[in-house]
Amino acid sequence: MHILKLSGLQCRFTVSLAAYTMALCIYCLLWTPHSAYAAEIEGPDSALPAHAPHNHAPDLEDDLDDPEDVYKYTQIEENGEQHTKRVVGDVVTLGGSNVPGLLNIEAGNTTVWHFNNASLWAPYANATPGLPSSIDDGDTGDSGTIYKRQEASNRLVYISVTTCLQPEWNGTTNQTIVPPQLTLYVSNSTSNKEPGPSAPAERQVAITLNEGFANYSMNATTDVYMAVHAPAMPNNFTGIWNYEIAASIDNYYHGAHPASPFLYLVDTDTHAALLVTNNLTEANPDDLVYQQWMNLTSPFTVFVQPTIDKRLDGMRNSYCGMTHASINNASSSVQSGMITRGLGHKPKEQFYIQELNGSTSYFGVLAMEGNSTQIGPGVVGGGGQVWQPVNFKTKADNNCALVFNLTFCHDVAYAVPSNPDRYPDQPSLSAVYDSYAAGLYENFAKSLDQIPCNTTLSAQYSPAKNCDDCADAYKQWLCAVTMPRCEDFSSSLPWLQPRNMGQSPINSSASSIGSMPHSDMLMQVQDQLNQQYVPMTSAPSDSKAFNQTYGSVRAANSSRNPSIIVDKIAPGPYKEVKPCEDLCFSLVRSCPAALGFGCPDPGRGLEVDYGQRSDDGQVTCSYLGAVYYLNAAPAVGGKSSLAVFIAVVLSLWVLA
Ligand SMILES: *[C@@H]1O[C@H](CO)[C@@H](O)[C@H](O)[C@H]1NC(C)=O
Ligand SMILES: *[C@@H]1O[C@H](CO)[C@@H](O)[C@H](O)[C@H]1NC(C)=O
Ligand SMILES: *[C@@H]1O[C@H](CO)[C@@H](O)[C@H](O)[C@H]1NC(C)=O
Ligand SMILES: *[C@@H]1O[C@H](CO)[C@@H](O)[C@H](O)[C@H]1NC(C)=O
Ligand SMILES: *[C@@H]1O[C@H](CO)[C@@H](O)[C@H](O)[C@H]1NC(C)=O
Ligand SMILES: *[C@@H]1O[C@H](CO)[C@@H](O)[C@H](O)[C@H]1NC(C)=O
Ligand SMILES: *[C@@H]1O[C@H](CO)[C@@H](O)[C@H](O)[C@H]1NC(C)=O
Ligand SMILES: *[C@@H]1O[C@H](CO)[C@@H](O)[C@H](O)[C@H]1NC(C)=O
Ligand SMILES: *[C@@H]1O[C@H](CO)[C@@H](O)[C@H](O)[C@H]1NC(C)=O
Ligand SMILES: *[C@@H]1O[C@H](CO)[C@@H](O)[C@H](O)[C@H]1NC(C)=O
Ligand SMILES: *[C@@H]1O[C@H](CO)[C@@H](O)[C@H](O)[C@H]1NC(C)=O
Ligand SMILES: *[C@@H]1O[C@H](CO)[C@@H](O)[C@H](O)[C@H]1NC(C)=O
Repeated sequence: MHILKLSGLQCRFTVSLAAYTMALCIYCLLWTPHSAYAAEIEGPDSALPAHAPHNHAPDLEDDLDDPEDVYKYTQIEENGEQHTKRVVGDVVTLGGSNVPGLLNIEAGNTTVWHFNNASLWAPYANATPGLPSSIDDGDTGDSGTIYKRQEASNRLVYISVTTCLQPEWNGTTNQTIVPPQLTLYVSNSTSNKEPGPSAPAERQVAITLNEGFANYSMNATTDVYMAVHAPAMPNNFTGIWNYEIAASIDNYYHGAHPASPFLYLVDTDTHAALLVTNNLTEANPDDLVYQQWMNLTSPFTVFVQPTIDKRLDGMRNSYCGMTHASINNASSSVQSGMITRGLGHKPKEQFYIQELNGSTSYFGVLAMEGNSTQIGPGVVGGGGQVWQPVNFKTKADNNCALVFNLTFCHDVAYAVPSNPDRYPDQPSLSAVYDSYAAGLYENFAKSLDQIPCNTTLSAQYSPAKNCDDCADAYKQWLCAVTMPRCEDFSSSLPWLQPRNMGQSPINSSASSIGSMPHSDMLMQVQDQLNQQYVPMTSAPSDSKAFNQTYGSVRAANSSRNPSIIVDKIAPGPYKEVKPCEDLCFSLVRSCPAALGFGCPDPGRGLEVDYGQRSDDGQVTCSYLGAVYYLNAAPAVGGKSSLAVFIAVVLSLWVLA
């Protein structure tokens, strides 16, 4: 099956559907004795596909569309002759370099695979353009360093195995264990032509697959013998394994980088998640490689699966396993595309995954389909690659909605307070916030125009900062503050600030999107309204700060920019990831004093208005470009410098 590459932000539903259909195919094929799979291990008489050429190697690129055809090619070409041949015992010969063999295996059985001398010494594959640059995913494992294309008495062979199917749980209770892994044996002695559990250990290397994946490379001078062995069937499991094995003289056919987090969570809402890859290059916008990356439509893909679903456990490092067992993909749609949003503004691929269930834990796996433009036999790396899964949980309350792709606040990408009844779609919701922020910026820009920015350095308001710095800092701050980062009211994370408790929860059961999971929210809120609220322990002891309730202070009972959030959007109670205090400090530092910016002091509003960054990877305060578990150490100005800038407090949104 040829998985189609879809363009840019197009819906990737079909990819998922393809994977789903493929899974179905596998099941059908498995249990039908006269299937393509069964044919693979039949005797010498089994026929080639009618249209397969008999006197020269099959033209793999033209025949990739039919999965059955693909796998019928797996063992043609034996000693230069094209016919399917079963060698002595249970030896199956691989169809060549970069031509995988796909086979079922029963518990306890071993299949020996032969990569013959002719395949080893065949011409190397033609060089392909590859990705614009190699990605720095931090993987220090065997990445397939290429020593080739030099005359040598030996050749490096890249061997990889992935599990495509594994036995299923048929116990009476919920599954708690995963099926055991297959083992790859590679003979390293010419006297061992039948590697496996019963062959001498000093004449072979044994590698147990890790979550359905193993790789191994070795220098070879002649025929290579490998074997795949299935363990005994544990109690309460039933079925068989199915795996793909490949040997290549060019590079690994399959890849897995389980120790490399390369996909990050940006944020979720009740029905969707926004994930992003790390920077694909550190090049600058003027560099060719930067432009080449941005020119790609969608070099990667993601698989998303509810954590509770155990089907993929044991195959999380297997691209093949993902395509066959990832069921959730079929019902969720994924939009993907290249972006430069985020820290450093480097090229990344973004994935917007919709149609998820609320309040549910998922994991997402970044993957590459084949070599990113083509999959399957004949393609170097045609078996695909996967990276470390990223875990995330969708929100519950249905009043936070992901927004991104904004015109003015184009670096904003997170969930904001929302109300699906009033603003049912992302564009209408983001427009409310975005035009509000743009309007405020216009006023600011007029004020900035009055400041002598473009004079000589000595006449500037600061030797280190100019008006562009001020404008940048203002925009960063403005967008973060006018578009609060929203979390469920029910979340108990300590850094969150309850907001808008004075408003009734949205009645989203009437909304088209679905009912709010927490119908007892109103009660929760009402209980809390009369409780004592002490957000600032460093407040002056004689102040009212120790004598107020959630219901009595604007910081908790109302919202930032109430004219937009409370009146227009009316999201009901929510919690806010407060903007980072360094955004405010930076604004004060970057702008001329004449503009009168100042930040609230600790004990006098700072704590309820602004949050602090953490270095444990949590997004404990909101800044543009934040992603989970990638926080760079913050460049926060010390609090001492704050005293210098006491001017007009940024009072528009000060709530305490
Ligand atoms: C697996 O091993 C059993 C016992 O040796 C044998 O009967 C069976 O045919 C084997 N299955 C395959 C697919 O080779
Ligand atoms: C393997 O192939 C190479 C190159 O074709 C040839 O020189 C060598 O003799 C062959 N080795 C064996 C054992 O057939
Ligand atoms: C993937 O492999 C195909 C076939 O070898 C090749 O035409 C294509 O250029 C490769 N893609 C990349 C990105 O290298
Ligand atoms: C698993 O199998 C064992 C032995 O057949 C049985 O005693 C046990 O109850 C089973 N466990 C579950 C959870 O089904
Ligand atoms: C089994 O899993 C279901 C969800 O799949 C869950 O609702 C149930 O509580 C689980 N049972 C046990 C005993 O863990
Ligand atoms: C083959 O591999 C085994 C296991 O790593 C090792 O002990 C043995 O020395 C190797 N033999 C040769 C001839 O390299
Ligand atoms: C293969 O041989 C090359 C040099 O011929 C050497 O640099 C490399 O380390 C060897 N690789 C393995 C896996 O033995
Ligand atoms: C080979 O496996 C190791 C360990 O799992 C991994 O770090 C490395 O990236 C793998 N190489 C490829 C090309 O997948
Ligand atoms: C981007 O793609 C266009 C159209 O395919 C092509 O003309 C242009 O040269 C590409 N730019 C780069 C930098 O690759
Ligand atoms: C991208 O690069 C920037 C610096 O250029 C860095 O701050 C950031 O952490 C990197 N990764 C992401 C996902 O933003
Ligand atoms: C982002 O905005 C552009 C135009 O501004 C639009 O073409 C594109 O479809 C939008 N993407 C998403 C995912 O909404
Ligand atoms: C400063 O000068 C530059 C170029 O002369 C101009 O583009 C910019 O708008 C000016 N900025 C202000 C605030 O006047």
